[in-house]
Amino acid sequence: MTNQPEAARLENLWGGEFGDAYVERNKAAGDQRAPFWQNMLQRIPVRRVLEVGCNNGGNLRWFEDALPAGGVYGVDINQKALALLRQEHPNINAVYSPARELPFRDGFFDLAFTMGVLIHQPDSTLPLVMNEIVRCSRRYVLCGEYFAAERTEVPYRGQEGALIKRDFGKLYRELFPELELRYETFLGKDAGWDDVTVWVFEKRQ
Ligand SMILES: C[S@@+](CC[C@H](N)C(=O)[O-])C[C@H]1O[C@@H](n2cnc3c(N)ncnc32)[C@H](O)[C@@H]1O
Repeated sequence: MTNQPEAARLENLWGGEFGDAYVERNKAAGDQRAPFWQNMLQRIPVRRVLEVGCNNGGNLRWFEDALPAGGVYGVDINQKALALLRQEHPNINAVYSPARELPFRDGFFDLAFTMGVLIHQPDSTLPLVMNEIVRCSRRYVLCGEYFAAERTEVPYRGQEGALIKRDFGKLYRELFPELELRYETFLGKDAGWDDVTVWVFEKRQ
């Protein structure tokens, strides 16, 4: 339970039929993502990784063969997504958890990241979620999200407050001065993505 009603509403949305329908629609979403992740793993040395809001592993599947056994973790709030992930990628650790309270110790991962998940967090808990991601990573934080220079709510499948674009890169730097921007790129629809801006940060040691 949470005393954050807006976060609870959105978690229920993603955990219920709305989330199940997303899983069904997006089963193949990760199929063209290999080049991006292979390139990323050449830039940043990673042995243990966490994706927050991993769905059925469209990103994490590309880490499986590149990392030591047992080093790939994903959390999600949708059980259908996690069941699919376990079925198709049994070597990935699939964990049920809300993003604002991650069940891992500080610095457990070399990299913690989101792809299209911060956009679905309400104002009230977005900083908490970002804090959890930064807390769990020893070194790198990656964020791939829809960009807007100012907070911009976008209609999303008839649900209010369910998709908010922002300058997430700026927000990470403002909230966590220990983060240094290492790399930024844009993944357009032509490359099999959905116009996502990616920021990669490294913690100052
Ligand atoms: C738009 S999908 C993105 C999936 C995946 N990251 C990708 O790139 O294909 C958002 C995912 O985040 C999950 N999610 C949304 N809010 C969450 C929260 N508060 N805690 C944990 N998972 C959440 C949803 O269930 C869904 O699987």
